[in-house]
Amino acid sequence: EPGAQVAALVIGTGYGGSVTALRLAQAGVDVHMVEMGMAWDTPGTDGKIFANTTTPDYRSYWLRTRTKQPLSNFLGFPLDKDVPKYTGILDAEEMGGIVVYQGRGVGGGSLVNGGMAVTPERSRFPGVLPSVDADEMYDVYYPRANSNLGVNTIDPAWFETAEAYQFARVGRKQAQRSGFRFTFVPNVYDWNYMKQEAAGTVPKSALAAEILYGNNYGKKSLQKTYLAQARATGRVTISPLHRVTTVTPTTGGYTVTIEQLDTSGAVTTTKTVTAQRVFFAAGSVGTSKLLVRLKATGALPALNNEIGTGWGENGNVMCGRANHLWDPTGSLQSSIPTAGIDNWVAGGAFAEVAPLPTGIETWASFYLSITNNPNRGRFTWNAATGKVELDWQTAWKQPSITMAKSIFDKINATEGTIYRTDLFGVYKIWGDHLTYHPLGGTVLNKATDNYGRLHGYSGLYVVDGALIPGNVSVNPFVTITALAERNIEKVIAEDL
Ligand code: FDA
Repeated sequence: EPGAQVAALVIGTGYGGSVTALRLAQAGVDVHMVEMGMAWDTPGTDGKIFANTTTPDYRSYWLRTRTKQPLSNFLGFPLDKDVPKYTGILDAEEMGGIVVYQGRGVGGGSLVNGGMAVTPERSRFPGVLPSVDADEMYDVYYPRANSNLGVNTIDPAWFETAEAYQFARVGRKQAQRSGFRFTFVPNVYDWNYMKQEAAGTVPKSALAAEILYGNNYGKKSLQKTYLAQARATGRVTISPLHRVTTVTPTTGGYTVTIEQLDTSGAVTTTKTVTAQRVFFAAGSVGTSKLLVRLKATGALPALNNEIGTGWGENGNVMCGRANHLWDPTGSLQSSIPTAGIDNWVAGGAFAEVAPLPTGIETWASFYLSITNNPNRGRFTWNAATGKVELDWQTAWKQPSITMAKSIFDKINATEGTIYRTDLFGVYKIWGDHLTYHPLGGTVLNKATDNYGRLHGYSGLYVVDGALIPGNVSVNPFVTITALAERNIEKVIAEDL
């Protein structure tokens, strides 16, 4: 309600925000969560909440009039099509030299992502977050995150026979023939549900190519885990289709300005509330953009000069390989990945063996590589346009391509195969124009203290992927969740 006073206001409902809301509520604090995306709890005209990947519609994209599919082409033909402008679930945010994909709605990225739930190898952790006690993370907070997220692993016997994982078995065979380490990757998709999908006893989601625009069944998104627990405390309320625009100090806390949106993206009302504490959980890009603007425009002038720096894309780069006709990858492919090729130590790349759930045999192997790209971008305020810009150039992905080639050049040489050139344009091998894993921009122990408290203002916190300096060497949400668990425990113990 306009004019309301709240004890804790959380901006965004992704991993960082959901952990924070649950733990504050359990400590007896009333929490209000503000989410610019939709609630995603009501079926559309086809009886389903979420659109299928193969038929994107009005629900699929955040305020675009044309889809921007990560795999833009097939056999060289462009796949994108016009859609009505709507507050859809996937934001393809064009930020200069890179398209940053992000989830929009109650649950944030958990609505759209592939569910790969990876804890980085312990030996790599000091390189990721040097100021964080690794023992505490691996003894307490990673286990807590994995358990609350509902992380589970595929039944290895089922994997060997499932038609929908032939693509991953081909990926394994080829990785091993070139001497690479092949690893199974845990997921938050319910593997027992997927088995029932394969048996034909339940409605299909992963086996019906649902991903990117939401999973109607089977995936344990935050709505089913942390946010369900948070709501059950009776202390957490959520306002969907509300976007925070300003946070500025006032007596006893902060004045927060919030715009209410309709499904065309138009602002219908502007409200202000007072919050004793504000937790920024708008995601790496959302939180960094907000803080850069608030510092530059005088709402939060005492924020330090680290705000906006240390942003990275987790070294994401995509590619496809063309297999021989005797090595089909299957016309039925589960949309949920479950395996990766680990060449991090020798080559700086961890490649997810990704599905291409087109419904037809493509003879293609498709990969999303996470690489040790050292390049970092920076968010800056452009006073002339009144916008925050990201300084990033497409050419800064070259190290990622080189690292990914450490895997795929070798596999191609062993197999006598070539790269696909038809998936990202005409004669274009590398999907180097995008990321699914934005990280950093408000880095832990730099823009904030070692627990996410923003320097310059007591009662302001950063709790999401903006804290992580650009790279985690694997898929990021388990680390974002575990770090949020660690930080909020400290804040509850010391600040409340
Ligand atoms: P997150 O982005 O989840 O949440 C931020 C929320 O804040 C959003 O809901 C947003 O709408 C809201 N918001 C932003 N600005 C706001 C404002 N001003 N006011 C109100 N609300 C605002 N990771 C992984 O580990 N395994 C995987 O398999 C995948 N796969 C994958 C696929 C795809 C297609 C994508 C796009 C992403 C992934 N990821 C992934 C990445 C993962 O989803 C991502 O790292 C996390 O969701 C980030 O969590 P955060 O809490 O930082 O923000």
